[in-house]
Amino acid sequence: MGRVFVAGSINMDVVATADRHPRVGETVAGKQVLYFPGGKGANQAVAASRLGARTTLIGRLGKDLFGGELRTFLGAQGIDLGAIRETAEAHTGTAIITVAEADNTIVVIPGSNALVGVDDVAAVPLAKGDVAVSQFEIPLPTIAAFFRRARDIGATTLLNPAPAQTMSSELLALIDILVLNETELGLLAGVELSDSDEAARILDVARKLQAREDQTICVTLGKRGVLALAGREEISVQGRVVKAVDTTGAGDCFVGALAAQLADGVDLRAALAFANAAASISVQRMGAGPSMPTAAEVAAVLNAN
Ligand code: RIB
Ligand code: NA
Repeated sequence: MGRVFVAGSINMDVVATADRHPRVGETVAGKQVLYFPGGKGANQAVAASRLGARTTLIGRLGKDLFGGELRTFLGAQGIDLGAIRETAEAHTGTAIITVAEADNTIVVIPGSNALVGVDDVAAVPLAKGDVAVSQFEIPLPTIAAFFRRARDIGATTLLNPAPAQTMSSELLALIDILVLNETELGLLAGVELSDSDEAARILDVARKLQAREDQTICVTLGKRGVLALAGREEISVQGRVVKAVDTTGAGDCFVGALAAQLADGVDLRAALAFANAAASISVQRMGAGPSMPTAAEVAAVLNAN
């Protein structure tokens, strides 16, 4: 059974809840302020670990209160923290989030995450069959070095290019599995895509972006489910209708769950269905990190229908 290695961001999410989002220049009265462990990298690692994968998180924390709290939380999830370094040069990554009507807006201040460097990923004990995961909240040259190493060793590379930004064709070619939403796909492919576009068009755009014949592109469509292009094969996973309270970290839950399943040797179609069910559980709970489900919870959802 392979392991999951996540090189990525760790943030404290400072969340304000309100009945609706303020417009620009407007003040609205909120209901609560909540502090949740977050950061796309950490969230993905929490999901993978809670779902049973042996998981290592590679990242950086500041020497401050949030850094200490995040380390305690991540350790309690069973994640290997040996590759998390502390820096006095920056504060711990922080995200300022507003949640209203289950939708969020996020301003993320990278802090220590911007210092995750090539040397942080150089000594990671990757092995054949492992899954190497990253996202766009740490510097791109670090991700490229991590993936180059992973591929040399025979590990699978999985990138979640969020928050969306363009990448070099060199980095794109280092990715075995790309997991992104329709907005991110549109940006990377240089076309306009919206959540009302048809499956055929989304798959066409994915085909256009595919950098290698054997590359897999998974497009997460929220409540519409998932579309994937695995080489030439097309896979579609039905959406799940649930009552969402907070979608923050749902994409991260999907990524972490998919990585855990693939490390366990599960085939792609079943792994995507599992990850989709996992994400549908996470949106029914507040917060990012703390909302990740366990394997038993996902099994219960999959067995129910
Ligand atoms: O994907 C959700 C995450 O994005 C939040 O936890 C926040 O920290 C931002 O990084
Ligand atoms: Na959630």
